[in-house]
Amino acid sequence: MLDTVERPQTELEDQQYIDGVIAEFAEKPGGLLSILERLQERNRHKYLSEDVLKYVARRTGVPLSRIYSVATFYSFFNLEPQGDHTVCICRGTACHARGSRDLLNNSKLMLGLHEQEDGGADKLSLTTPDKKFTVRTVACFGQCALAPVVEVDRKIYGRMNERELRKVIDKVDRKGKQS
Ligand code: FES
Repeated sequence: MLDTVERPQTELEDQQYIDGVIAEFAEKPGGLLSILERLQERNRHKYLSEDVLKYVARRTGVPLSRIYSVATFYSFFNLEPQGDHTVCICRGTACHARGSRDLLNNSKLMLGLHEQEDGGADKLSLTTPDKKFTVRTVACFGQCALAPVVEVDRKIYGRMNERELRKVIDKVDRKGKQS
């Protein structure tokens, strides 16, 4: 029965891994969350494609609408390809009061994202066309005493300013070119 399930159009190289993850977690409490987490982590661009979500729905029997509601409820899930590097800028009140809007605008300008439409949404996520950088916002890192707070590639930087942020972005960009 399972063998007749249509395979995702993309990520074919990961077919075995996807099947293994589903087999491991499908019957466990909170299994869907674990499945999605692992599949996103495995994806080169750290996102869950439509094809993969549909495939998970078919294999697990969980309605696609429920899978989407889980994937959109948790902010750590991405439904669009992410850049190799992530610059996440806090837009909470404390960080806003200490200049996070300028940090955000400056990062967008520096990475050539200033002309991309962000829809004015609170939760912003923009990725450079070469998929090298994603600039995102977050509501609060829970580190308000260090405002303004920025996270670059999962490393938190407190009391950030535009000059320092430029240096950090330059550094990860150079590192990316070397690897
Ligand atoms: S408001 Fe930015 S860390 Fe809390």
